[in-house]
Amino acid sequence: MCGIVGYVGGQSALDVVLAGLKRLEYRGYDSAGVAVLADGGLAAAKKAGKLANLEKELADRPLPAGSTGIGHTRWATHGGPTDANAHPHLDNSGRVSVVHNGIIENFAALRGELAERGHQLASETDTEVVAHLLAEAYSSCGELAEAMRQVCRRLEGAFTLVAVHADAPDLVVGARRNSPLVVGIGEDEAFLASDVAAFIAHTREAVELGQDQVVELRRDGVTVTDFEGAPAQVRNYHVDWDASAAEKGGYDYFMLKEIAEQPKAVADTLLGRIDTAGVLSLDEVRIPPAVLREISKVVIVACGTAYHAGMIAKYAIEHWTRIPCETELASEFRYRDPILDHRTLVIAISQSGETMDTLMALRHAREQGARVLAICNTNGSTIPRESDAVLYTHAGPEVAVASTKAFLTQLVAVYLVALYLAQVRGTKWGDEIQDVVRELAAIGTQVQQVLGTMEPVRELARGLADKNTVLFLGRHVGYPVALEGALKLKELAYMHAEGFAAGELKHGPIALIEDDVPVVVVVPSPRGRSVLHDKIVSNIQEIRARGARTIVIAEEGDEAVVPYADHLVRIPRTPVLLQPLVSSVPLQVFACELATARGNEVDQPRNLAKSVTVE
Ligand code: F6R
Repeated sequence: MCGIVGYVGGQSALDVVLAGLKRLEYRGYDSAGVAVLADGGLAAAKKAGKLANLEKELADRPLPAGSTGIGHTRWATHGGPTDANAHPHLDNSGRVSVVHNGIIENFAALRGELAERGHQLASETDTEVVAHLLAEAYSSCGELAEAMRQVCRRLEGAFTLVAVHADAPDLVVGARRNSPLVVGIGEDEAFLASDVAAFIAHTREAVELGQDQVVELRRDGVTVTDFEGAPAQVRNYHVDWDASAAEKGGYDYFMLKEIAEQPKAVADTLLGRIDTAGVLSLDEVRIPPAVLREISKVVIVACGTAYHAGMIAKYAIEHWTRIPCETELASEFRYRDPILDHRTLVIAISQSGETMDTLMALRHAREQGARVLAICNTNGSTIPRESDAVLYTHAGPEVAVASTKAFLTQLVAVYLVALYLAQVRGTKWGDEIQDVVRELAAIGTQVQQVLGTMEPVRELARGLADKNTVLFLGRHVGYPVALEGALKLKELAYMHAEGFAAGELKHGPIALIEDDVPVVVVVPSPRGRSVLHDKIVSNIQEIRARGARTIVIAEEGDEAVVPYADHLVRIPRTPVLLQPLVSSVPLQVFACELATARGNEVDQPRNLAKSVTVE
């Protein structure tokens, strides 16, 4: 949520910051702003709406050239998306400028205090109080980093702050608590950003900042302290993808590119984790096998799409390992006083590694003595840093707000964890699991096969652009896939879309069926659990008899569904539990095409942001 960029170096700060903001716009896109230090002063511009509005403003009213600057793309929390509420915020003297991601919970008290001391505040944001507090602290200590430390000690909540002061022309100061901020080290230049994507075109050398740290950024390097001023430990790392990975590469939308990248993302996530004999090695899961053998319960916490991956994981973990497994929305988890102990393995799934609800859930789990394993796509992010172990997904940067390739790689990761647990514990390690391991190792080919057959799905989606509702049904692992299909459609096409467990239909939802309402049905394999298959075929008949238009996603060779499918989408045969890896792909394509047909912004759907760093 909110994208932040800071720069100090030899280039035009405005150009570097604007290019960085373009790469971060997915984080929030309801307003944008920049500030540069130039000619002994500070110049700023900000505009409500997309970054293009700010660029137009800068073309009409250019800022003076400077080589130190900061910028921000906003996802509004306090105060609507107006010019006044856009960042950066300045103090009354106009010499301090600050951008912020997060929520300052005690801002009302701080605002009241500032008003009593005669400060005039121009916006409704929580951020503006920081600009005023920084100016006050700076005037008494004369040092921006120290002023930042003093202010941070007074703030409650989650924040990343980046500030410049006109009296300190070659310095950018940043601070973080519970919100992301990374440093990029170039030659004679340095960068600060919410995400490495902002500076990857300039450098791949990054420094990960820890909790409650303040960084001073200068051309010749960085200094990091804690909020008390003591030198802090940081971790340097090399970013293992390049700028082209965060570009559209000829596709109209990032989402289309990311859907197409799924076979590679899946293969990369499997790479080196299953050997030719079918033995799993997850060395990075640093929880010793002896501890894993003692686990008595698995609890999965996640949000949104990652939660759906977690729901599927429950089926796999319980079936292959016989360890009881619960999957829970991270935002609900800690508030119900869950029962956890040192024999509980908590798995936190998150693409961004910054989702506040998931972070808070894992902190709660660790406080109760549970072990936490993160499944994450973002190296160095907070969730893996605070977990006992991490299994990285290798989806590469996911820029489109709607998650696609990250979801598929999360599925691969949870299957790997489930199979690894089964291997370590020796549970059910028979022919079934050997087959699954073999088929999982080759699943990228099947995902590719699905992608090659999507034109009829796109055509179908275009034909449904004027519908108000689409329903999704599934059973077993097809149920979370149905929920995921509905979520994708809501967020992209802004349509009423709901997913149901097909068995629940008769307990209420069937009342929604009326003439020509489209219902997507994810059909389980007729092999394996054939009872479930037969039941869902009956469900299709029931809804069709009541007028529904049935869109049936079924395995190749499943002839039983043919008479009842108004539209039939074929997917390759896979082991029963792995089917979501292929059945969710048509639903992604369907939602993307429907959104396009309705004229919606595919990569940046309204009201959403990629990384949700508030609770
Ligand atoms: C939906 C989507 C969101 C995220 C959710 C969790 O397409 O992207 O529902 O899945 O906000 O985000 P992460 O995985 O970053 O924790």
